[in-house]
Amino acid sequence: MGLIEWSSTGNPRKIIFADESDGKRVQDIWEYKDPQYPKYPTEKNSDMLDLIIRASSNSESVVLDCFCGSGTTLNSAHLRGRRWIGIDQSEHAIKATTEKLETIKDNLFTDSPEYEFINLDAPITYPEHGKTENEEKAAPCVAEQL
Ligand SMILES: C[S@@+](CC[C@H](N)C(=O)[O-])C[C@H]1O[C@@H](n2cnc3c(N)ncnc32)[C@H](O)[C@@H]1O
Repeated sequence: MGLIEWSSTGNPRKIIFADESDGKRVQDIWEYKDPQYPKYPTEKNSDMLDLIIRASSNSESVVLDCFCGSGTTLNSAHLRGRRWIGIDQSEHAIKATTEKLETIKDNLFTDSPEYEFINLDAPITYPEHGKTENEEKAAPCVAEQL
């Protein structure tokens, strides 16, 4: 069989088999729609975040989202096997994030997330120094995947 096929209108096309193709390069302009009914006002498209995670991190990377909103980036990072840290100052955002992370269930490819929730509004005690530094609040809430 040759590598040229003819369309019904008589145009020649080169046949490229799927296992010979590297796929299509990601273009400079991306078109993704944000969710139609977001749980958080600025929630981003999860397919777009998945692409960003795959393109910009490796499986041993730690993904930091210091404005994590509803946790879409953390969700994508977790599903791609990355460890992650998320921070947000809004209680609403932290609630949306924890609810989103709770939707990730154990399956063949992914473990449900185990993470430590750190509320920086609560005083942090340093046994060797006594209570001090937390009066300087940086960002109130941090979740860190264990
Ligand atoms: C654009 S939203 C993030 C949306 C997120 N990427 C998503 O998909 O849901 C920005 C977030 O930054 C948080 N934020 C703004 N200033 C902050 C600060 N100084 N410290 C921590 N979080 C902050 C806001 O509460 C808000 O949730």
